[in-house]
Amino acid sequence: MARSQWGSRLGFILAAAGSAIGLGAIWKFPYVAATNGGGAFLFIYLGICLTLGLVLMLAEMALGRATSAGAVGAFRKLAGGFWPLIGYMGVLVCFLILSFYSVVGGWTIAYIVKSLQGGIMTSDPKALGAIFGGFISDPVQPLLYHGGFALLTLAVVVGGVQKGIEALSKFLMPALFALMLVLIARGLTLPGALEGVSYFVAPDFSKVSASMLVDALGLAFFSLSLGLGIMITYGSYVGRESKLLGSALWVILLTVATCFLAGLMVLPAVFAFGFDPSAGPGLTFITMPAVFAHLPLGQLFAVMFFCLLLLAALTSSVSLLEVVTSFAIDELRLSRRTAAILMAAGTFLLGIPASLSLGVWGDYQLFGMNFFDLLDFVTSKLLMPAGELLLALFVGWKAWPVVRAELSSGRSPRAMQCMRGFCMALAPLLIGCIMVASFR
Ligand code: TRP
Repeated sequence: MARSQWGSRLGFILAAAGSAIGLGAIWKFPYVAATNGGGAFLFIYLGICLTLGLVLMLAEMALGRATSAGAVGAFRKLAGGFWPLIGYMGVLVCFLILSFYSVVGGWTIAYIVKSLQGGIMTSDPKALGAIFGGFISDPVQPLLYHGGFALLTLAVVVGGVQKGIEALSKFLMPALFALMLVLIARGLTLPGALEGVSYFVAPDFSKVSASMLVDALGLAFFSLSLGLGIMITYGSYVGRESKLLGSALWVILLTVATCFLAGLMVLPAVFAFGFDPSAGPGLTFITMPAVFAHLPLGQLFAVMFFCLLLLAALTSSVSLLEVVTSFAIDELRLSRRTAAILMAAGTFLLGIPASLSLGVWGDYQLFGMNFFDLLDFVTSKLLMPAGELLLALFVGWKAWPVVRAELSSGRSPRAMQCMRGFCMALAPLLIGCIMVASFR
């Protein structure tokens, strides 16, 4: 059977950006930047995205296109031995991420409902914190929304590559950017907002620490969907004629731009209304309603915002489910429908303890973390960096001829040499050092 292909290069860029831009940029980035003290974090994050992020994304796309295979198949086609394990690990990462991603995706649906009911239109930090806290610790409601989100994801994936993912991504991005600009304009004109801006963009490099570096590294991989597998799988649907470097650059620029806008949208409001910048995972959910409360037609904006956040989350969750599904199709020889249903059900089940660990099961902790935080920790700070480290080694030492053939047309041999050196030594060294430092 011929492998499906994207309708156009633009379609590929939008779908890859759709995978990248999601809860990572809009929900995770603002609170991780804020808990790390802002400023320096932004620059470190940007630096990582534009160096490690760019090279590794290119490498993943090239591997996928060269082999026309998914995460595991790509490694198997090019090398035997233990290398395909990297691919298995990538699939596992996607599976684990999807389980808690879908819980947070469910929160966005819940907030659409809350906005429609009007109950969140206040700028009182205490009230908004209580609404959020009460909701996520409820034993039933978040699970229903989590299930709803999982079903939506499943519906798109069963619909197929082009019809589902590409169509959704095309209209989403412009709408999201436009709405964010409106909300930023409102946030910045609030009294006290400028303090938030300087907190966010003025670098204070004395705050740099190993834990900040590993946070930035994990977030960079998470937000760029470099979980191993996604960009390989998506790359495998790219036609021969497309230029990968340009596509990768676009995806990265769109993603970091979204992160930056999300920071500008959330942090000034945090300061203007007196929220706690280190509030953690609830930050976007408790802060944005206060901005809506200060907008004419605020309720309408609230509904639009959470709808767009939901769609952005969906284009990402779809990419996660797509990887595990395409793994099940290729490796377990299941039909697309069966594979997608099985995998969606699996991630839904794993998401249940993740959600409950924010409430009734909060006392069950491992290494001082509840299950939700543990999933996040294991994926963002262990498996993704480790996987990318191995991927770099694989590309530099093992698959270089193939990757070079994919990327080299029109490029100087010296540039290719640089990229190879980067993969062979510099990238693994950087990632390794950051991981080791964070454990000490
Ligand atoms: N990048 C997405 C986001 O920021 C999440 C995501 C999608 C992801 N696919 C991934 C993260 C693969 C890691 C690996 O919302």
